Amino acid sequence: MDELLDMPAAETATPTQADPAALQGSSFDYLLRPGADLTAKARAFHDWASTRVKHGVFPYAKRLGGRPGATAELMLLDGQRHAGLNYSSQEYLSLARHPAVCAAAQQAMARYGVHSAGSTALAGNVEEALALEAELGALLRMPEVLLFPTGWAAGFGAIKGLVRETDHVVMDQLAHNCLHEGARAATPNLHLHRHLDMAHAARVLQRVRQRDPHNGILLVTEGCFSMDADSPDLKRLQALAREHGALLMVDVAHDLGCLGPDGTGQLGLQQMLGEVDLVMGSFSKTFASNGGFVACHDRAIKEYLRFYASPNTFSNALSPVQVAIVRACLAVVRSAEGQQRRDRLMHAILGLRAALTAQGITVLGQPSPIVPVLLGDDALARLACREMSQAGLLANLVEYPAVSLNSARLRMQVMADHTPALGETAARIVADALRRAQALAGGAAH
Ligand SMILES: Cc1ncc(COP(=O)(O)O)c(C=O)c1O
Repeated sequence: MDELLDMPAAETATPTQADPAALQGSSFDYLLRPGADLTAKARAFHDWASTRVKHGVFPYAKRLGGRPGATAELMLLDGQRHAGLNYSSQEYLSLARHPAVCAAAQQAMARYGVHSAGSTALAGNVEEALALEAELGALLRMPEVLLFPTGWAAGFGAIKGLVRETDHVVMDQLAHNCLHEGARAATPNLHLHRHLDMAHAARVLQRVRQRDPHNGILLVTEGCFSMDADSPDLKRLQALAREHGALLMVDVAHDLGCLGPDGTGQLGLQQMLGEVDLVMGSFSKTFASNGGFVACHDRAIKEYLRFYASPNTFSNALSPVQVAIVRACLAVVRSAEGQQRRDRLMHAILGLRAALTAQGITVLGQPSPIVPVLLGDDALARLACREMSQAGLLANLVEYPAVSLNSARLRMQVMADHTPALGETAARIVADALRRAQALAGGAAH
C-alpha cells in the first residue's frame, strides 16, 4: 500500500443519491423499543442498518486488510473495498510493526506461551505483567498500578469497584462510554457537569457535598476527550476534589505516550504528574495492543480494585504477548526515538489541522492525535463520508447519539507515519466530498 503515499486525490464517479430512509434515523431509535420479542428488536435495527449498507452510508464494522498503516485497505459491509489514506486507526506512534515490539511479542510467546490462563485475582499475573505495572508507575509517578483486560474494563471497573450505591459520581457530560456505564452500574447518584465547565463542576460538587456529607464522591474526567480533542484544567479539578472530600480520576487513553514531555500526556503538560488521585488508561491507542490500567497512590485501593472491580476479578488477565508488546512500546515511548515519533506525530497533526482550516473546514479541539472535523447535519455527514471513502480517504464517522444531534463529525486519527503532505491531500478530499454531499443533499430537498 505504500505507493499510495504519493497518490493524488482519486477521481470519483458522479455521486449517486441515497434513499432517504438510509439518511434518516439513528441507532438510538432502536435502543428503547418496547416489545416481548427480543429478536424482533434486533431485526428492526438490522433492517435499518442494512438499508444504509445498501446505499453505501453505513461506514461501520469495516474490515481491515493488512496492517493499520498511514495507508490501508478497508472493506465495507457491502463488500466494496476502499484503499487510501488511513485516518481511521488509533495507532498514534505507528508502533504496530516496530521491529523491537514485534520481537518482544515473539520472545514472550516462546518463553511463556500465549495464555495467562487466569484472572489477576487468581493465578493470571504473568511475571512480565508485574514489571509493566512498575514501569507504568514510574512514568506516571504513581506507585500502584493494576492492569485490566481492556481500557473499557479499566474505566468501568474502577468506578464500579470503588463506588457503592449510596456514593456519588460527578462527571463531565462528554466522558467516555465506559465511564458513564461504570457510573450507572455503580450508583443512581450520577451528576453530570457541563463539558469542561469548571465553575459548573464546582457548583455540582458543592451541592452534592452539602446534601450528603456522609458518602463518597468520585470526580471523573478525561485528559483528552475522545470526540472533541479538548482537555480540562486538571489542577483545578484536583483542587475541587480535595475541597469537597472527593477523589479525582482522569482517563488518559488518548494522551498518555503520544503527547506531553516524555509522553506523559496532559498530566505532564499541566504539571500534574503524580498529583492526581487516580489515573486510568488504555493500551489500544499508543501502545499497539489491548488492555488498560488503573494507577493510584494507595496499595489498599489497588488491592481493593483487584477484588471488587468485576471486569478484573472475573476476567482473564492480559496475555504474556500483550504485556510484552505494551512493555516494548513503553520503552520506545520513554526513549529518544519516542520523542522523535511524538515530534513527527505533532508535525502531521498541525499540518492536517492547517490544511483542513485552509479549505474552510471547521476543526474542533486542540492539537492531539484526534482531529475532529465538524460535518454537522447527520444526513449530509453520511453522504460526505461515503464520497470520501470512494475518493480514497478512510476516516471514521461519528454521529448521533455518540455526539449530539446534527453535530456529526469525522474523527480523523493521526499517526507518526502520516506527513503534512498526506494531510493536504486528505483535506482536499474532505472539502471535495463535502461539496459533492451538499450538492446531493440540495438535490434531495427539491
Ligand atoms: C477515552 C477512552 N477511554 C477508554 C477507552 C477504551 O479503551 P479500550 O479500547 O482499551 O477498551 C476508549 C476507547 O475508545 C476511550 O476513547
